[in-house]
Amino acid sequence: MLTRLLDQNRRPLTFVVDEEEITAKQGDTLLTAMLAAGLGHVRHSEFGDGDRAGFCWMGACQDCWVIVEGRGTSRACTTLVEPGMRVLRR
Ligand code: FES
Repeated sequence: MLTRLLDQNRRPLTFVVDEEEITAKQGDTLLTAMLAAGLGHVRHSEFGDGDRAGFCWMGACQDCWVIVEGRGTSRACTTLVEPGMRVLRR
């Protein structure tokens, strides 16, 4: 869904989404990292309208909620990825 066009100077880091190790770049939000890694969505809608990949991308809705270990429900579009972070999509 997202493709990195020019992004050579930021350090790579890894984190885990649903037991799958994902490589991101330092400074990525969870939403950017997950979509750039090809995951395709960040959660399933509880209202039955399918997979969701964020709507506003600026912290104003709840379309990108994920569960971050140790933090609970978090917005993927405003949460920066940290090395070793563990995330659940559900
Ligand atoms: S996409 Fe709207 S709060 Fe993250």
